[in-house]
Amino acid sequence: MNPDTPRPYARHLTPRAVPGLPADFRWGVATAAYQIEGAAAEDGRTPSIWDTYCRVPGMVVGGENGDVACDHYHRMPEDVRIIEELGVGTYRFSLAWPRVQPGGRGPANAKGLDFYKRLLDELEARNITPWVTLYHWDLPQELEDAGGWPARDTALRFADYAALAHEALGDRIEHWTTLNEPWCSAMLGYAYGDQAPGRTDFPAAIRAVHHLLLGHGLAARRLRGAAAARGHALDLGITLNLGTATPETDSPEDAAACRRADGMGRRLYLDPLVRGAYPQDVVDDLALRGAELPVEDGDLDAIATPIDVLGVNFYRGTLFSGVTEDGSPLDGDGLPVTRGVERDLPRTAMDWEITPTALTDLLVGLETEYGVPTVVTENGAAFHDTVAEDGRIHDADRTTYLADHIDAVAAARAAGADVRGYFAWSLLDNFEWSYGYDKRFGIVRVDYDTQARTLKDSALWYRDTIRLTRESGARDTRTPDTEG
Ligand code: FCB
Repeated sequence: MNPDTPRPYARHLTPRAVPGLPADFRWGVATAAYQIEGAAAEDGRTPSIWDTYCRVPGMVVGGENGDVACDHYHRMPEDVRIIEELGVGTYRFSLAWPRVQPGGRGPANAKGLDFYKRLLDELEARNITPWVTLYHWDLPQELEDAGGWPARDTALRFADYAALAHEALGDRIEHWTTLNEPWCSAMLGYAYGDQAPGRTDFPAAIRAVHHLLLGHGLAARRLRGAAAARGHALDLGITLNLGTATPETDSPEDAAACRRADGMGRRLYLDPLVRGAYPQDVVDDLALRGAELPVEDGDLDAIATPIDVLGVNFYRGTLFSGVTEDGSPLDGDGLPVTRGVERDLPRTAMDWEITPTALTDLLVGLETEYGVPTVVTENGAAFHDTVAEDGRIHDADRTTYLADHIDAVAAARAAGADVRGYFAWSLLDNFEWSYGYDKRFGIVRVDYDTQARTLKDSALWYRDTIRLTRESGARDTRTPDTEG
């Protein structure tokens, strides 16, 4: 048993068709540029906030960085062949802003774009649909030096970059995601210091929230305009990291804690994106903490530019209490307590509780409250893999995690949620941000000494599950006429 797993989790699973997922359900795998590409200083790429942050002693486990990562920049064709072998129809990846537009301003870098054009060639040759994210956390360092996301100008720079990327690649990519997980960029990056750029300034983080959303909205407008003018198909979205907040007891304090957690983690983003207004209760909570969203005229209209799909990254749900361990409703600063409570549940190597039914609840709640079609753009788990004597990786815990969460998606669909796809995080073991290379999320193992790739058992299970589900979905939709 995995020493870090307090409760056994892995079950022995054989691939089977997942009932209720149709033949056209979108299956994918996901990665992000800084986590896999390497080639940090090649072909004109300039440093991002992550290159800088990794060099600050103590910020990343083992002092590691993304200089080489999975060397995907040089091994891309092999990686695309693996995606083909998995039989997923869609590959979600991100463009490195400092590769496409070094320094975050000015013209595109042809060599940087060439890499993505070669990637698109490989994907097209293998019939794999690209699903591109414009920003997966690698802000050009120059823009951080000019104020970063707390500065309004960064939103304008992002919209320019989005337009430039779309101009170069918009004829070949239909599915565009503006931002990955703005909550992480703002809160982990600027309030808690756990991710680049590592600042700890809560009011600055709240300004970052607004400017990330504004950047999304301005970029969305530019992409919509350009696609319409050039006659390109466009499926536009944003990806949020979302969870669920469950009260520990039925006390009013615990209910209030859940309201606050859900407000800061979910409604603060979705209300302006879908309804064009920030939630007033969250605005009031922020004021109590001395923070304000720097909204200017017209910003909310831009932010509410219609999206076609909401990307949902899901890892876990959380139980909340509104009192400290000794029962006080206020913390040391006199603010109401919002405290995550640990449960006796199986956990991953990240020490994250495994809560698949929360994914069903989340997706059904999104349908009811916001009514936007969703795709699960990330879901997966790190476990301490071992290579067996036969050279295989028998990662039954990861397979079980994927199976339970795919079932949770099917359950959400059965309950009426319009969930259109599921992408496993991640294709490859990769650079897990401040955890370095220690946490392995891949369904494909990377041996960092040799860069050899090995499909783990979870990858083989995923491949066969997708095939069987597609076949069964196709049978279900066949009319009696075509049956014979
Ligand atoms: C998400 C990130 C992704 C990866 C997973 C484990 O928050 O989007 O890059 O690190 O977590």
